[in-house]
Amino acid sequence: MSERTYEFPEGFVWGAAAAAYQIEGAWDVDGKGPSDWDMFADKPGAVFEGHTGRVACDHYHRYPEDVALMKTLGLRAYRLSFSWPRILPSGTGPINQRGLAFYDRLIDELLRAGIEPWVTLFHWDFPLELLRRGGWQNPDSPRWFADYASLVGERFSDRVRHFFTVNEPQVYIGFGLHQGRHAPGLQLPMREVLQAGHHTLLAHGLGVQALRATAKQPLTIGYAPVGVPLMPRSSDPAEVEVARRATFDVADMSCWNNAWWMDPVYLGRYPEQALEFYGAAAPTVGARDLEIISQPLDMFCVNTYQGAFVASDSDAPRGYRKLPFPPGFPRTAFNWPVIPEALYYGPKFFYERYGLPIVVTENGVSCRDWVSTDGQVHDASRVDFLRRYLRNFQAAGRDGVPIIGYFQWSILDNFEWAEGYKERFGLVHVDYQSQKRTPKDSFYWYQKVIADNGRSLA
Ligand code: FCB
Repeated sequence: MSERTYEFPEGFVWGAAAAAYQIEGAWDVDGKGPSDWDMFADKPGAVFEGHTGRVACDHYHRYPEDVALMKTLGLRAYRLSFSWPRILPSGTGPINQRGLAFYDRLIDELLRAGIEPWVTLFHWDFPLELLRRGGWQNPDSPRWFADYASLVGERFSDRVRHFFTVNEPQVYIGFGLHQGRHAPGLQLPMREVLQAGHHTLLAHGLGVQALRATAKQPLTIGYAPVGVPLMPRSSDPAEVEVARRATFDVADMSCWNNAWWMDPVYLGRYPEQALEFYGAAAPTVGARDLEIISQPLDMFCVNTYQGAFVASDSDAPRGYRKLPFPPGFPRTAFNWPVIPEALYYGPKFFYERYGLPIVVTENGVSCRDWVSTDGQVHDASRVDFLRRYLRNFQAAGRDGVPIIGYFQWSILDNFEWAEGYKERFGLVHVDYQSQKRTPKDSFYWYQKVIADNGRSLA
């Protein structure tokens, strides 16, 4: 990293994020249809201590209070998701006007507060009725998604200028269809998993086309995969090169990698190395599919929490090995290693390969937060975590990576999927019994970072 001073660009998008199923609650209110998560969370043993998203943060009813908190925080942008089955209870067909009206109210409230909404169309709550028709395994699923995207584009693109198609396909396909850890809880063979993955990539491409076709004004459209960089231990150029190559390798029979989910979207092809590695498990690809999947996008978005270190190793099959973490290495409450360099090397490697300006669409940390005797929440380790990660992101900018935005995950503590309410990622503490919101120390810290455009990170 160079020593030049660097300031976040003017207009840098300081944001925070959340997703419909994790905060809204109101799971069967005002005509909403059930989602795969509504079904999955009810299965004994699927979610920590049987928690569900039925009520969550009750954001559906409390959004004015939540938007007021975002305004106090000074957020420039808020990344939210729309619940597909709230808008289309069966996933296709009849429209739920009351669902649309909720998002109208929410979007208008955000705009009144001076906060730009960045809307993700699909953040994992899949219409249950479409799951019964095969979900992402059904070759019609890209078309279902595109119809939903057209509806959202028609209705909201007069006020919403930033959209994402899907969030983290590695997780909803990998955990959902392969490892069974997330909804719908399947453990399919890899061939079927990757075919469903291919459908979801097609859904992304058709979704982009649908948004552009219905747009009432020029839109900024992105896609939000997970990005897990593999990093060198030193700045030795040979080691950096090994790490760069490793970052885009597919090295195990799972969905946990970057290039399989990024190359088709940005480069219009599946990576050769991965096709070879997956072999017979690779999906059937139609003649025009990759053209559809690789619609031009306006930015490279990535959700990054973790990473790992690698070192060259001439005895290893791919010429490198992953380094174990030394005993006592810092870990979050979720047991994720704390690796701030991920926000340096991730943006750098992704920019070098894909050539688009970078937005970190999720980054944050779960801590065992509670309300102290003084009525406040002292989450010193979240402040430290965010400071370290943001400094690294800043260093990537200083070293020439165009960085345009950062979305902290999450504005509120919320339903952390299979971990239920155990993992708290929020800048605002939520007492799920009383629904009381308490801004944490990190909220006030981030407020200052936003106000001085990152100068206080120094
Ligand atoms: C990401 C998800 C998000 C949240 C964070 C902690 O994988 O996109 O919904 O659960 O992890």
